[in-house]
Amino acid sequence: MSTVRVTHIVAETDTVKSFRLVRTDGAPLGPHPAGAHIDVTGPTGITRQYSLCGPPYETDSFLVAVKRETSSRGGSAALHDGVHVGSELRISEPRDRFGLVPEAREHVLLGAGIGITPLLGMAHQLHREAGNFRLHYFATARERAPFTDLLERSAFSERVRFHFEVPRTGQQAVLDSILSALSALSALSALDSGTHVYTCGPKEFMQRVTATATRSLPEDRVHVEHFQAPDPSEAPGAAFELELGTGEVFTVPADRSIVDVLADHGFDVDTSCREGICGTCVVPVLAGEPDHRDNCLTRKEKAANDQIAICVSRTRGRRLVIEL
Ligand code: FES
Repeated sequence: MSTVRVTHIVAETDTVKSFRLVRTDGAPLGPHPAGAHIDVTGPTGITRQYSLCGPPYETDSFLVAVKRETSSRGGSAALHDGVHVGSELRISEPRDRFGLVPEAREHVLLGAGIGITPLLGMAHQLHREAGNFRLHYFATARERAPFTDLLERSAFSERVRFHFEVPRTGQQAVLDSILSALSALSALSALDSGTHVYTCGPKEFMQRVTATATRSLPEDRVHVEHFQAPDPSEAPGAAFELELGTGEVFTVPADRSIVDVLADHGFDVDTSCREGICGTCVVPVLAGEPDHRDNCLTRKEKAANDQIAICVSRTRGRRLVIEL
């Protein structure tokens, strides 16, 4: 973790503020991978994850945008109300679980609302590299869409398409028209890495994008950035044996996580969100089949079954062997 100072705060919309951060010791902060996020610990001590939305190649500061959540338990509300220019915050190193695929021939970025933030960083990077990309931005209204002015004035504005005031019932038709063009392209590019789709926004929006895009693209070309924990009701637990690479064995009860059990036995495991979002607690799997319950590993990473987010995930079998 490092300490940063807030140098600028901008009310991007009624509910979204952006915060520009510099290190208090004057050291550079960047560059960072496009689409990366950081943990930010606010004045209440609560840590939340926010995408870096400034140009990834800039080294003097980080830019994050925070939407005030109506259900905030002290995370976003504390940043909105308790942080001012000059305030100091603690942040983590950038983590990259939603990166651009360097060999892709075309990138299609689809964001909704505050989900624009990681895509904004990606668009900056792709423009700098003269990449082939299009950014589609959905929002209920222009005044509720952060960074609209910035996008309109940007050097890549001709690559941005705004989809404002599209009713939820009409969203599918718009996605069909955007993503149907991929069918022909993906057929042409079946032998290379072709087109990749990246999406961030409300869960229903990302599900719709994923369902539509995977009609014409393989699943591993559709990339989803989650900032919501998986639904716990989907994940009833069962007790199992946890073995460490060192040979130590512990029982993980049905109602406790691997992280909880390790903490009980004196292991200081690195965690942040504890909700399966951030990826901090991911460790290698040496044996056994993980029951992935996180939203941080990609589908491909989950299918490989060689790593696990131990704050939420479990095992499908009776024993799981991990390396700490
Ligand atoms: S601590 Fe964030 S995914 Fe486990």
